[in-house]
Amino acid sequence: MTYKVKDTLKRILNRKYYKLVKTIYLSILSIPFGYNLNMLASIYKSDKWGRHYFTKHYSTHFRKFKFKRIKLFEIGVGGYHHPDIGGNSLRMWKRYFPFGRIFSLDIYDKSFFEERRIKIFQGSQIDESVLYKIIEQIGEPDIIIDDGSHINEHVIKTFKILFPLLKTGGIYVIEDLEMSYWPDYGGDSENLNNPSTMMNYFKMLTDCLNHKEFIKPGYIPSDFDKTICSIQFYHNLIFIFKGINNEESIFDINNPEIILAEKIQI
Ligand SMILES: C[S@@+](CC[C@H](N)C(=O)[O-])C[C@H]1O[C@@H](n2cnc3c(N)ncnc32)[C@H](O)[C@@H]1O
Repeated sequence: MTYKVKDTLKRILNRKYYKLVKTIYLSILSIPFGYNLNMLASIYKSDKWGRHYFTKHYSTHFRKFKFKRIKLFEIGVGGYHHPDIGGNSLRMWKRYFPFGRIFSLDIYDKSFFEERRIKIFQGSQIDESVLYKIIEQIGEPDIIIDDGSHINEHVIKTFKILFPLLKTGGIYVIEDLEMSYWPDYGGDSENLNNPSTMMNYFKMLTDCLNHKEFIKPGYIPSDFDKTICSIQFYHNLIFIFKGINNEESIFDINNPEIILAEKIQI
């Protein structure tokens, strides 16, 4: 749609009807691209493709959910304090998942962007009671995407609250890991081992995958040890897969004699 047509429509229609016309126009435009998330991101003007290069990774991991009746919960509607700006990715997800229900949360009132299969809550991503209430209302999501404040402390806190509430078999995604290096967001470019950055927090979680190998008699696995099955790092993007992480170690790891024998063999 050219800017001229857009301006004219905006002038003659009220915001509700303008939104309706835009929705119909974009759904028609996107008909040939139901499987192509990069194209859908461009059509719906989501910054997940073009500004970032996230949708190619989303395609890889989300394809299996394409025709399922999934619940996707994305933190951050977009547009910050502007009530009429945002929701681009939510509309893209709705188009990509024809049977999916899309939920979102923003610190600002974004209710204007609600439509069939898109429900939006208002509140902060670090407000535990808000998050619990949302999950109580919508049920366990299959997919959670954190594209909210990007403040390191917030991302970690939100993950600690929400990952246990994600469905087994589900995927938790964190976007914009560049903020892990930016001091304004609590990041650090100097000390790459700074334990308060999100990159370090999620790097640290990779040890959960191998907790059965810890030589720690009596070690009690944490919930993350038991439920994180895989972590995939991309440029500024992390996917964390939830499942049952109970594969046994091939060694009787808490028997030092066996470890010693293994060392001698090597
Ligand atoms: C990068 S934008 C989201 C873009 C959107 N996910 C998309 O792909 O189109 C970030 C949004 O997070 C919201 N936000 C900022 N701090 C927040 C917080 N503490 N809790 C919830 N939302 C927050 C902002 O208002 C903003 O609309």
